[in-house]
Amino acid sequence: MTDKTQTIHSEWSSRFAFILAATGSAVGLGNIWKFPYITGENGGGAFVLVYLLCVAGLGIPIMIAEIMMGRRGRQSPINTMQTLAQQADADSRWHYLGWMGMIAGFLILGYYSVIAGWSMAYIFKAFFGGFFSSDATEIKALFDDLMNSPIQQIFWHSVFMVITMQVVSRGVRGGLEKAVNFFMPALFFLLLILVGYAMSSGSYQQGLDFLFTPDFSKINANAVLTAMGHAFFTLSLGMGAIMVYGSYLPGHVSIAKTTFFIAGADTIVALLAGIAIFPLVFANNLQVDSGPGLIFQTLPLAFGHMGGGWLFGVLFFLLLFVAALTSSISLIEPTVAWLVENKDMDRPQACIWSGVACWLLGVAVVFSFNIWSGHTFFGKNLFELLDYLTANLMLPLGGLAIAVFSGWIMKTSDSAQELALPEQGYQIWQFLIKFVAPPAVFLVFLHVIGVFL
Ligand code: PHE
Repeated sequence: MTDKTQTIHSEWSSRFAFILAATGSAVGLGNIWKFPYITGENGGGAFVLVYLLCVAGLGIPIMIAEIMMGRRGRQSPINTMQTLAQQADADSRWHYLGWMGMIAGFLILGYYSVIAGWSMAYIFKAFFGGFFSSDATEIKALFDDLMNSPIQQIFWHSVFMVITMQVVSRGVRGGLEKAVNFFMPALFFLLLILVGYAMSSGSYQQGLDFLFTPDFSKINANAVLTAMGHAFFTLSLGMGAIMVYGSYLPGHVSIAKTTFFIAGADTIVALLAGIAIFPLVFANNLQVDSGPGLIFQTLPLAFGHMGGGWLFGVLFFLLLFVAALTSSISLIEPTVAWLVENKDMDRPQACIWSGVACWLLGVAVVFSFNIWSGHTFFGKNLFELLDYLTANLMLPLGGLAIAVFSGWIMKTSDSAQELALPEQGYQIWQFLIKFVAPPAVFLVFLHVIGVFL
C-alpha cells in the first residue's frame, strides 16, 4: 500500500510547506466572509465566545487527530479509514466516514465557488472605481445588482472553478506553497489597515462591544450549533481536507505544534475581520444581520473613503480570492485523491470530472440567490440548505466520528507513536478527544433535536 500511494501522491517538501498549505485551507471565506455575517445574525458576543470555546476544546484536539490519522493512513480519506480500521481490527464500515467527508467537501465547494466568484467580481468593481465616495445605499445597490444577475455570478463562478481545477490538477506542491507564502502575510497586513480605519470611524467601541460583550439571552440552541459548526468549518475539519493534507506530511514533524499555529492564525484572521467590519456597520447604520452580503456592503464603504482606498480595495478582494482558492483546493482534494487511487484516472482527468459536477451544483446555487430564491425547503433556499447541511451537520458529525475513532478505536500505542507528544500532553489530548469532544458534539445535536420536537 505504502509503495503504491507514495508513487501516486507527493509529500510536502517540509513542515513549513504543510503549515502553509493547511493554513491556506483553514483561512478562507469562512474567516472573512462567513464569520462576520453569522456573528451578526446570531447576536454577537455570546456567539463569538461559544465559537472560541469550540475552537479550543473541540477544534484543536480534533485537528490533531485528523492530521495524525491522515499521516498514518497515507491515502485519500476513504482508503485511509479502511486501512486504519484494519490496523485497529475495527469494522470496515468506518470508511463511510471518508465518503461522508468527500461528499461534504463537494457540496461545500458548490457554494464556496459562487461566493469566491463574488469576490472576483469585486476586484473589478474596485478596480473601475465602483466604490468611490459612494454611500451605503449606492454600495448596497452595487451588491444587489450582482445578486440579481445570474449571468455575472455564473461567469465568475466558472472562472473560479477553472482556476481551482487548474491548480489542483498540478498536484499539491506545484504553486500552492508559493501562493500561500505570499498571501498570508499580505492578507494579515491589509486586515490591520482596515482595523486601523475602523478605529477612526467613530463607532469602534460599539463594534468591539458587539463582538466581545456576551449577552447569552441572544443565543439559542441553533446559534450554539452554528457556532460549533463554524469552528469545524473555519478549521477545515471533519471532512478529510486536513486528513488528506496530513497524509502528505513527512513522518518526523510535530503534529501538535503545527496545529496550534494553524488554529491560532485562523482565529486571529477571523477576529480581525470582525473588528474591521462591525464598527463600519454601526457607523453607517447598517443592519448587523444583513446576511451573506455583509462584507460586500460594508468594506467598500471603507475603501471608498480612506486614503489609498482604491489600491487597498483591489488588493483586498484579490487576497480574498486567493484565500478562497487555497481553501477550495483542499475541499476537492479528497475527491481527486480518491479518483486517482480507485478509478485509474490521472489528476487532470479526476479534476475535470469533479470540477464539472461541482460547477453544475454552483449554477443551481447562483439561481437560489435570484430566480429560485422563492423556492425554499424548511424555510431555506438552496444556498442556506447546503450551508446548514454541511457546516452545521456533516462537519460536526465527521468530527465526532474522528474523535471516537482516534480516542476509542485506534490503539493507544499507535496514536502515541504517531503524535510523539510528551506524556502529559498526550494525556490531555486523550482526555479531550475521548471525554470532551464526543459528548459535547452529541449534546449540542441532542439539544437542537429537542428544540425541533
Ligand atoms: N476553512 C475554510 C474557510 O474557512 C473552508 C473549508 C471547510 C475548507 C472545510 C476545507 C474544508 O473558508
